[in-house]
Amino acid sequence: MQIIAHRGASGDYPENTLLAIEQAIVQGADAIEIDVFAVQGELIVIHDHHLARTTNGTGSIYQYSLVELMQLDAGRGQRIPMLWQVLELINGKCWLNIELKGDDTVAPLLALLDKAEQQLGFDLQTLVISSFNHHLLAAIKQARSQLKLGALTASLPLDYAAFASQLQAYSVNCDVSFVNKAFVDDAKARGLKVFVYTVDQPDDIQRLKAYRVDGIFSNFPARSRTLANKKPAD
Ligand code: G3P
Ligand code: MG
Repeated sequence: MQIIAHRGASGDYPENTLLAIEQAIVQGADAIEIDVFAVQGELIVIHDHHLARTTNGTGSIYQYSLVELMQLDAGRGQRIPMLWQVLELINGKCWLNIELKGDDTVAPLLALLDKAEQQLGFDLQTLVISSFNHHLLAAIKQARSQLKLGALTASLPLDYAAFASQLQAYSVNCDVSFVNKAFVDDAKARGLKVFVYTVDQPDDIQRLKAYRVDGIFSNFPARSRTLANKKPAD
C-alpha cells in the first residue's frame, strides 16, 4: 500500500509548503499530494482560497496580486509555493498528485507541464491530476489523453466507480468516511487504482489494507508507513 503525503508531511509541518514536501520525501513517502489554485494565470499551492487558516493573510487569494501573496507567511516562515517550485523540488524523487481546486486551473496547468517537460525533463507519467470538479478532468483528458487522472469523490455513488471509468481515469480517490469493500472491488474490476484520503488512524489503515487499496493519503507519512507494515495481530 503506497503512502501519499497529504499536503506534504502536513501533520508535522505547515501544509502545502516546500518544507512539508521536503520532509515528506525525507520520511520516505511514495508520493506527495498538493492543492492548487490559479492567480493571475499562475498556479499556487494552497488548499483554501481564503488565506486565514494557513497564512498570516486575510480575505481571498483573488483579492491579491501574486507578488503580494508571495510575501505572506504560510507557517514557520514558509511562503506559499508556486507549482513550478514544487515540480523543480520533486522532479524524479517520487510521484506527485496535483489536486485542482480553482475552476480556472486547466490552461495554466497544461502550459506549465509542457514547460516542465521541456525545461526540467519532468516525466509527466509521474503525475496524477485530480479534482472534485470532474469537468476539469474531462477537459484535461480531451487536451492531453496521456495524463493520468485521479477522479475524486467524497460520496459512495449508486454505480460505485462508474464515474471514474467514464472519465478514463487512472485512479479513483475516495473519502475514508464512505469507502467500503464493494466500492473498492468495483473500482479494481474496472482497472482503476484506489487511493483513499485522509487516513492516519491505525484501524482505518488495517481496514483499507484488508480491502487491498493501492494507497492512502496521510498527514503523517512515516508513522502511517509503520502502521501499514504492521500485521493486525502485532
Ligand atoms: O486529494 C485528496 C484530498 O486532499 C481531497 O480533499 O480537501 O484534503 O483537498 P482535500
Ligand atoms: Mg487535497
